[in-house]
Parts: sequence; structure tokens; C-alpha cells
Amino acid sequence: MQLTDQVAIITGSARGIGRATALSLAREGASIVVVDINAAGAQEVAAEITGLGQQALAVQTDVADQEQVQAMVQRAMEVFRRIDILVNNAGNAVLSPLLETTAAVWDRTLKIHLYGTFFCTQAVVPHMVAQRRGRIVNMSSVSGLVGSAGRVAYSAAKGGINMLTKVLAVELAPHGIRVNAIAPGAVETELTRAAWTQADREGYFRLTPVERSPEVVDILGLEHADDRIHHRDVQECEHARARQQIEPHVGHRCAPNPVHRELLPVPVGDEVLFLGPHR
Ligand SMILES: NC(=O)c1ccc[n+]([C@@H]2O[C@H](COP(=O)([O-])OP(=O)(O)OC[C@H]3O[C@@H](n4cnc5c(N)ncnc54)[C@H](O)[C@@H]3O)[C@@H](O)[C@H]2O)c1
Repeated sequence: MQLTDQVAIITGSARGIGRATALSLAREGASIVVVDINAAGAQEVAAEITGLGQQALAVQTDVADQEQVQAMVQRAMEVFRRIDILVNNAGNAVLSPLLETTAAVWDRTLKIHLYGTFFCTQAVVPHMVAQRRGRIVNMSSVSGLVGSAGRVAYSAAKGGINMLTKVLAVELAPHGIRVNAIAPGAVETELTRAAWTQADREGYFRLTPVERSPEVVDILGLEHADDRIHHRDVQECEHARARQQIEPHVGHRCAPNPVHRELLPVPVGDEVLFLGPHR
């Protein structure tokens, strides 16, 4: 077991990528704090983890609310006495072109993604500093790397997360804390299933070398989301590149961009973990 005795907080882990990450880390031996605004969903995932023989704690939290985040981290410390891993994954996906983006949509989207990542990180880091060790992974998106019409607030928030990741990777490295981000293309989850038309789905399918609509298991790091993720070698990146070759711009509310067939790893933080399509 790679993560025995380690404790991971995973936000937005009641379903989708967060749930899969939580189960993956639990299978590696970690105890999991299942954090989600959806209390019932968080409880269900915690029960699944307990069924795997690992410890789990479900904490209903709106990551956009700093007080709730602080209370969640305090609760995690009371129960587990340490926090080794934080995965900032909670998010929504509002498709909204500029002229349809209200201040409320802009505000809520940035609050969940960017502020939520900031709040959770700020609450967890003092404990990691005390331990002189920590691992933080932020769930970004290709929408934070390349222009994607119709995703004004979402892309701005993910772009902010990218820069936050870079800054914190440098700032926290002396404390033994590594900060990285993952930037998936389109992945089939409940979130995207609700938003995609059949034409969108087929578009992604055609442009994906895995020859099917990309799913959670294709996300870089799910099989390696422990310390190995931070020591990924070039070969692993190449492998991930092949699996992550996804055209993210075929949404029905997104302007079709030229097909990006080339994926390049972009150095972020102290390791290469950002993968996204580049011209
Ligand atoms: N699915 C994709 O194609 C895709 C691509 C790139 C990036 N991402 C990112 O991956 C992350 C997860 O996406 P997903 O597809 O699994 O979505 P999902 O909707 O399936 O899961 C998101 C989870 O976050 C929770 N959540 C939402 N707002 C929250 C809040 N304020 N506080 C706490 N929890 C909250 C939801 O309840 C849900 O359980 C998001 O950050 C998303 O932007 C997804």
C-alpha cells in the first residue's frame, strides 16, 4: 500500500472525477475526507470507502464559504489528526457567453472554483507546514489553458487556478509541500452528460484516440494519484499524453476551433502535470 496512514481531503467527491479520485486513493490505503455540498452523496461515497476497508469521513461543505471550509478542516483534524493530501476538485460547469454572463454567474463560478481552491488550500496548509510535508492537486481544465468560446467565467476561474498553482508550488516548496494541477479535456461525468448533446458526444468520440468518449478513468493521475504522481517521469507523461489527446472545443455552445492534434506537457509547479492541447 502506497498511502497507508495518509489522509486525503477531496472536495467535490460525491460524484464524478472527485468520487473516482477518492476511491482510487482509498484503494491505495489512504483515509478519505469526502467533502461535497451534496451531503447525501458524500455519505454514500464515504460508505463505499468504508466498504473497501478504509476510513472515511463525509463533511458537507460549500467550498465557496470560507467559514464552512475552516470548520471542515478542523473536523478532519479532530478525526484524523493529520492531512497529507488535498485535491481541490469541487466545481460546476456553467456554459455562458460574455453577454449572457450575469454578475451572479460570474461571482458564483469564481467563488466555487477559484475562491474554493484558495480557501481549502489556505485552511490546510498550516497543518502541512507543521508536518513538513503535503501534496496539493488542483483540478483545472484545458479551458484554463486555451480560449474556449462560451466559457467566460469558468475559463477565467480555471486560468486563475493555474496561476495560483504556480505561485503556491514555489511558495510552499520549502515546506515540503508540492502543488500541482491537472487540466483534463472533456471527460464523461454526470456534469457533462447533462450538458452534452449527442452531437457533442460524437464529436468528442471522433477526436479522442482512446476511440470512445473519454471517461473519468482516463484522467491523468487516477491510477497514480499518490506520491508517484509527483515523480512522474517522461515516459509516464508520454503515455498520459496519448490518452489525453482530446479536442475540447466541440461543445454546441463553443466555437469550433481547429483540431488540436498535438498535446504538450506544460511545466506547472515543480513537476510536469499540466496536459492540454496547444496549437
Ligand atoms: N468533466 C469534465 O469534462 C471536466 C473537464 C475538465 C475539468 N473538469 C473539472 O473537474 C472537476 C470535477 O468535475 P466533474 O465532471 O466530476 O463534475 P461533477 O458535477 O460530476 O462533480 C462535481 C462535484 O462537485 C460538487 N460541488 C459543486 N459545487 C460545490 C461547492 N460549492 N462545494 C462543494 N462541492 C461542490 C458537486 O456536488 C459534485 O459532487 C471540476 O472542477 C471540473 O471543472 C471536468
